[in-house]
Amino acid sequence: MPPAVSRETKPTTPADPVRPEDVDLSVRLGPLELANPVMTASGTAGLGLEMEPFYDLSVAGAIVVKTITKKPRKGNPMPRLSETPSGLLNSIGLPNKGIDAFVAKTLPRLAGKARCLVVNIAGGCSDEFAELAERLDGLPGIDALELNISCPNVEDGNLPFARDPEIVRGLVKSVVDVTDLPIITKLSPNVTDVASIAQAAKDAGAHAVSLINTVLGMSVDWRTGKPGLGTVIGGLSGPAVKPIALRMCLEVKRAVDIPIVGIGGIVSVDDALEFLTVGATAVQIGTAHYKTPDVVARVVGELRERLASAGRRSVQEQIASLKAP
Ligand code: FUM
Repeated sequence: MPPAVSRETKPTTPADPVRPEDVDLSVRLGPLELANPVMTASGTAGLGLEMEPFYDLSVAGAIVVKTITKKPRKGNPMPRLSETPSGLLNSIGLPNKGIDAFVAKTLPRLAGKARCLVVNIAGGCSDEFAELAERLDGLPGIDALELNISCPNVEDGNLPFARDPEIVRGLVKSVVDVTDLPIITKLSPNVTDVASIAQAAKDAGAHAVSLINTVLGMSVDWRTGKPGLGTVIGGLSGPAVKPIALRMCLEVKRAVDIPIVGIGGIVSVDDALEFLTVGATAVQIGTAHYKTPDVVARVVGELRERLASAGRRSVQEQIASLKAP
């Protein structure tokens, strides 16, 4: 008698292996198209030009410049950096030569070198953010703006922006109203409910959110009693913050329908892929630059092979592939 259920199965053909050269690295942050998802994080790659000795800027998905403000800023008292286990504390204080110098001197040298150039801006109030955005709107070579509402190291205090959804809503709207450039809003980890801040940014018209900026922290030499930073308290970055950043990206992903740029302790292609897995569409690499200045080029260079080895045909297939309830 034949068995009730045939054990015969169709011969299986193992899925064709994916060839690295066939992997599609492109991603979209709203209207912003990136050739690959790997960006520099603001403040860790200077104004972009400083990275030229290490790699061709066009290799990066995007170059994000150090924060530009309306007026020149000297920055904070030394010491501005303090190394901690698996991390780096900073309190730099947004030193820069101001928007006039950026537009007149830096931008003409930078324009056209990156495939995508994102200018990070910070103001002391919503109107100043809008003023900066209006000034940069339509200038050749600029592809998007990142709003630094989350720097923990300025006396006039950016953190109140990042902590209050109503302030974020008003600030982002004031920028969106004066520019056609895609807007990425950079969020702080030093908040209770990051999803509510991301939602406010989205409601006001932001095209993406980037997170996390640095985690408030400090260091101290117990013998001398001296703090590691001139401002005592600063922001922690590096591998130590990666689990916090992954958790916060996931919280935003679960609650808000907006593209996420994941930031926090990425030093390798595997770290970058972890952020994509929890839902980030792109990533920014920051502190790793200080040890490996060409880290962005290295990660981009390894991405196709790494995705292909897991059978992924595109970055898109990896995004939000977290297996969790
Ligand atoms: O102090 C700084 O310049 C840091 C800026 C930031 O974290 O956004």
